[in-house]
Amino acid sequence: MPFAPPAAIEAERVRVRLLAESDLPALFAVNSDEAVTSMLPYATWQTPADAEAWFGRMAALQATGLALQFVVAEKASDRAIGTCLLFRLEEGSQRAELGYVLGRAHWGRGLMHEALGALLDSAFGPLGLRRLEAEVDPRNLASARVLQRLGFTREGLLRQRWVTKGAAKDVEIHGLLRSEWPATRVSSPKA
Ligand SMILES: CC(C)(COP(=O)(O)OP(=O)(O)OC[C@H]1O[C@@H](n2cnc3c(N)ncnc32)[C@H](O)[C@@H]1OP(=O)(O)O)[C@@H](O)C(=O)NCCC(=O)NCCS
Repeated sequence: MPFAPPAAIEAERVRVRLLAESDLPALFAVNSDEAVTSMLPYATWQTPADAEAWFGRMAALQATGLALQFVVAEKASDRAIGTCLLFRLEEGSQRAELGYVLGRAHWGRGLMHEALGALLDSAFGPLGLRRLEAEVDPRNLASARVLQRLGFTREGLLRQRWVTKGAAKDVEIHGLLRSEWPATRVSSPKA
């Protein structure tokens, strides 16, 4: 069955909720930063029109039922500080891919670990997924560490999988099974 959009998911310091158009100015600040996008397969946003075009693409993708685009929001202000995404839902295999981005000012505090932990509870619980995958640039050690800490296994290297920013790039594939999730759940965030 295609994804049914869930209610907001509350973690200790952040909330994971569906993207709204009003999030675009905050997300422009995140994705217009070269340091954030350098290892991602899309160009750094240059103008608010890039944010609007992305919103249109994500809304269309979500309408297919095969993706859910969330923001990671600060709990007190509800301001978006990043995004996370479930996409490429393979219904028969109960499998989807995971993507995530956090604004640079918020790195290193365990916030994405916390957000993804909450999202994985939902993905392996109410959303009924059995397997999650993430593709990661091999140079992206922070991302690999986030996945490792959540219990993902690095399953292999896919050679020249992405053609992005003028070059063919290898990507690592990481996977996590529902049967592995309860044992790996880390509930206490870093300070
Ligand atoms: C990847 C990203 C989401 C991590 O978010 P975060 O909230 O800073 O992550 P956390 O604080 O939970 O954990 C980061 C971990 O990586 C480690 N790390 C950070 N930079 C590192 C580096 N250069 N080398 C090795 N480890 C590194 C941190 O020490 C931390 O490890 P720990 O949990 O053992 O302390 C964030 O850096 C980001 O948005 N980057 C740009 C977008 C991106 O790469 N998205 C992922 C695409 S696959």
